[in-house]
Amino acid sequence: MSYDPRFPLRTFGLTGLSVTSICIGCAPLGDMPETFKYSVTEICIGCAPLGDMPETFKYSVTEPQALETVRAALASPFNFLDTAASYGDGESERRIGLVLKETGGVPAGVVLDTKADRDPYSGDFSGEQMRKSVERSLRLLGLDRLALVYLHDPENTTFEAAMAKGGPVEVLLDMKQQGLIEHVGVAGGPIDLMIRFVETGAFEAVITHNRYTLIERSADPLLTMAAERGLGVANAAPYGSGILAKGPDNYPRYMYGQASPAQIDRVRRMQTACQRHGVPLAAAALQFSLRDPRLHTTIVGMSKPQRLAETEALATHPIPDALWPELEAIK
Ligand SMILES: NC(=O)c1ccc[n+]([C@@H]2O[C@H](COP(=O)([O-])OP(=O)(O)OC[C@H]3O[C@@H](n4cnc5c(N)ncnc54)[C@H](OP(=O)(O)O)[C@@H]3O)[C@@H](O)[C@H]2O)c1
Repeated sequence: MSYDPRFPLRTFGLTGLSVTSICIGCAPLGDMPETFKYSVTEICIGCAPLGDMPETFKYSVTEPQALETVRAALASPFNFLDTAASYGDGESERRIGLVLKETGGVPAGVVLDTKADRDPYSGDFSGEQMRKSVERSLRLLGLDRLALVYLHDPENTTFEAAMAKGGPVEVLLDMKQQGLIEHVGVAGGPIDLMIRFVETGAFEAVITHNRYTLIERSADPLLTMAAERGLGVANAAPYGSGILAKGPDNYPRYMYGQASPAQIDRVRRMQTACQRHGVPLAAAALQFSLRDPRLHTTIVGMSKPQRLAETEALATHPIPDALWPELEAIK
């Protein structure tokens, strides 16, 4: 990571790097005495596309291209990377692990998270499966400890099963006790369900995705309550998986599926409004997320090394105040 004053570090909610400050900051919470504080940049590099998932993104990513992207990420001003056991069924983690071999582990100051997943073939979402998933992540990444592991997409089981004795959440918290994981978060889709998980008090960070963008706001209540509770709050997929970065004509897809005609039309009108102000649509989409004070970080997916410099430029592109109400009015 190369320090850049335009992208200052910030403390990622209940996770973090400085033990001293966490002892003070978390005293009122009482139940996380060993928590560390992690400082993360307002942009986190999303490594899902690096897993080569043509069925999700509609394009392939070769290993050399993925490795170059990871190297560029580690040399960028952004110190936060997000992956998951399920991205390409371990391929994203394996590729990141190859670069970590070159660097001798996670470079100082860099925060790498991953997510514990169900078995992709049987759908098994048991506690035992979570343990296997974390153990494989450790192997693929070549690490003996993970900074932050999310319970991933718990909409694929029930809330009751996830929270049951010996179930997925208890196993992840046990692994934290054992020191294999430093922090446990929850990452998933349905907002009501995510709120239920946050309300348990078991998690230190939360990821929502595709639900807080220029054209979608349903994550709003989750963001407010998670921020009030002091969790690390991450907004993933500010481009709705691509349409808001590549444009409705080049990539008419939202949240990993064909965008609806209404979505395409709305994005097109937003693109025209942005053009009138000399602003790339992607800059507005990214800064819509970056300017929200409830969010600690925005997870931007990418699979090309040039995306790092492009993201820096998009994050700092001047946007006139007048554009925001114009975009807001486009329904
Ligand atoms: N359940 C969960 O926890 C969850 C769910 C969804 C996402 N996530 C995380 O959040 C990350 C972000 O989500 P996402 O990747 O699905 O969607 P996204 O960030 O909204 O969009 C990613 C897409 O935008 C493109 N893009 C990025 N920067 C660009 C630029 N400067 N110019 C043109 N195109 C650009 C990428 O293209 P290229 O590939 O061509 O670079 C990729 O196709 C994921 O990678 C993952 O780490 C987590």
